[in-house]
Amino acid sequence: MEDIIEVIKSRRSIRAYKKEKIPRELVMKILEAGRWAPSASNNQPWRFVVIEDEEIIQQIAFESIAFGINMFVRYATLIIAIYSPVKHRWVDVDCGMCAQNMMLEAHSLGIGSCFVGAFREKAVKNTLGIPEKARIIGLITFGFPAQVKETKARLPLEELVSFNKVSQNVKTPSLIQRTFLEISGRLFRRKSS
Ligand SMILES: Cc1cc2nc3c(=O)[nH]c(=O)nc-3n(C[C@H](O)[C@H](O)[C@H](O)COP(=O)(O)O)c2cc1C
Repeated sequence: MEDIIEVIKSRRSIRAYKKEKIPRELVMKILEAGRWAPSASNNQPWRFVVIEDEEIIQQIAFESIAFGINMFVRYATLIIAIYSPVKHRWVDVDCGMCAQNMMLEAHSLGIGSCFVGAFREKAVKNTLGIPEKARIIGLITFGFPAQVKETKARLPLEELVSFNKVSQNVKTPSLIQRTFLEISGRLFRRKSS
């Protein structure tokens, strides 16, 4: 079996795309990679809306702009919205695995992608006809890359891993980072309810 570590390590969030559309057969390959993700009890809670229509992409882009971020969404030639009609404890984990499968497959096909977690959920649901009771886990933008990015730094394993018992080297994310994510998470929840 092949080692996919190079695919994993060289994937970056790509936010600049060429205008060229992604052929449908490649879109289907990306979706197929998502379908094969593991999930709790194999419940496969993910559902996808594939957005190729330029007008709808622009509408979603508008609904994803927040505090100056996500301006790039408008340049995507494809967006896949991952939503779930169910709300059990593992939905986010399952859908996260599914999203990563799709982004890695895209990368291996020469397609750039970026997970977008900040968007006005209610507005996006309305635009895409996603049922009110479902939850949108995230949007993934795709396109042929118009930028080349170097590998982004990651925390060294020494700061992440303990063997047998938690060691003192393991670091907690900084207070600034935690506060930023907590506040932005709350803001988006409020806007979508
Ligand atoms: C749950 C989640 C939410 C994210 N939301 C956004 C977002 O709203 N906008 C954005 O530009 N990038 C977003 N990203 C991408 C991260 O910023 C990116 O993955 C991170 O900085 C690491 O960079 P890399 O993907 O290039 O390795 C998100 C990623 C995840 C996993």
